[in-house]
Amino acid sequence: MTQPTTIIIFGASGDLTRRKLIPALYHLYRKGKLHPQTRIVGFARRPYDTTTFCDQLLEGMQTFDAAEYDPQTWKAFSACISYLPGDLNTPEDFQRLSDFLQQVESQPANRLYYLAVAPRFFEPAIRYLGESGLAAEEAGGPWRHVVIEKPFGRDLASAQALNQAVHAVFAEHQVYRIDHYLGKETAQNILFFRFANTIFEPIWNRRYVDNVQITVAESVDVGHRAGYYDHAGVLRDMFQNHLMQLLSLVAMEPPASFEADAVRNEKVKVLSAVRPIAFENTVAAQYEGYLQTEGVAPDSRTPTYAALKLNIDNWRWKGVPFYLRSGKALKRKTSEIIIEFQKPPHLMFGLTSASEFSPNVLSLCIQPDEGIHLKFQAKIPGSEQDMQPVNMEFHYSSAFQGEPLPDAYVRLLAEAIEGDPSLFTRSDSIETAWRIIDPVIQAWESPKRGPLATYARGSWGPAEADLLLAQSDRRWHTGCGQHKNGITLNLKP
Ligand code: BG6
Repeated sequence: MTQPTTIIIFGASGDLTRRKLIPALYHLYRKGKLHPQTRIVGFARRPYDTTTFCDQLLEGMQTFDAAEYDPQTWKAFSACISYLPGDLNTPEDFQRLSDFLQQVESQPANRLYYLAVAPRFFEPAIRYLGESGLAAEEAGGPWRHVVIEKPFGRDLASAQALNQAVHAVFAEHQVYRIDHYLGKETAQNILFFRFANTIFEPIWNRRYVDNVQITVAESVDVGHRAGYYDHAGVLRDMFQNHLMQLLSLVAMEPPASFEADAVRNEKVKVLSAVRPIAFENTVAAQYEGYLQTEGVAPDSRTPTYAALKLNIDNWRWKGVPFYLRSGKALKRKTSEIIIEFQKPPHLMFGLTSASEFSPNVLSLCIQPDEGIHLKFQAKIPGSEQDMQPVNMEFHYSSAFQGEPLPDAYVRLLAEAIEGDPSLFTRSDSIETAWRIIDPVIQAWESPKRGPLATYARGSWGPAEADLLLAQSDRRWHTGCGQHKNGITLNLKP
């Protein structure tokens, strides 16, 4: 923290600022992780003054992060905040912003421009940042970075166009594209688990792994976000970003170092090896009652659930299917990665068929009960040759007692302020992910397709998703979130 940073939030009167950004910045302030000269400038159309803006933020803080709130600290923290009303479509307002920043900064400062705005404002905001000189970096001088929230494009072509618009003003090293899944401790731990331990990596390949499953299930429905969601759907909202990032973390080759570009190169490489997905390897569905939601078109074909079967054409994964699923209004909230290992080549112990055998399953539990579980077979005491799957478990809550896991935005903002892009998505990674998902979206959006399948609220999704695995005698696993602390034995399969 040799130089202070000014954080400029565009769209500062919106929900993201109150709910996530300010609580995250306040958390960093409390921990002493912000430079004492840090300034936070809110920029939005609402005609607030700084006092009204801070009142709004305080109300958000007390609603969304009450446990962290401390009146004395808040008072000191809020003294760093100012507000400037302005319009992202008005070039003169960027000139006013430039003057305003010079007033609030007491010394040369880095600047982090945070675009917490609807995607249609990304391009004008970036263009005017460029035209007003706010994006320019001088050699050896303070940096200028831009943070872009998702969604980054709504298909490959629009993502490419947005990347071009961004690169016309900012060099790639200045651009921080947010995927909040990368800020989750447990997502970061995937790389540590794989590459800081020697016992798993030798079996992390087609010789030992039967299939990999990534589930990101939510119990909530689209709620008040129907207006956005009905134009997006689960493939844009969850697959192109969060599921593709989890896939790359679990499937990538070991990078030579933990440097941002070394890691990001490997991620792009593995996504580039994903084979185009055949339509029969996709399932899309809507939960029952979705069409009656306010803000949803009565004949909407927007999927709220999807399941995909992917193949990665490289030496490590040839022939190993990757099954990905995500949806709203499902049975419970869980984000987990399952590595299902192959069955032993020769079965003894009185089994008459391989289907009776429950294979080893490793569950990487991203949330909510963060941890790692390994399921293996144990002989039932007193029996002759009966066995039962048992579970060996690691839980963050018991292994690292004390502070709860920080919110992803705390970590991401800290990294952006530090100027470390490792946890942000590079332009080629965004485009490669779109190359995988865009054809699936187009296939499902085609008017030639009949109505979507439906699924009951509170279920695990449509029967078609089970069939996707059943065709090859497999089934979905949910290995996380059902056990509390310590080692649980006698787990029913
Ligand atoms: C967001 C999606 O990116 O991720 C939301 O837009 C979704 O629809 C959310 O609910 C899920 O995030 P998390 O961290 O709760 O799994």
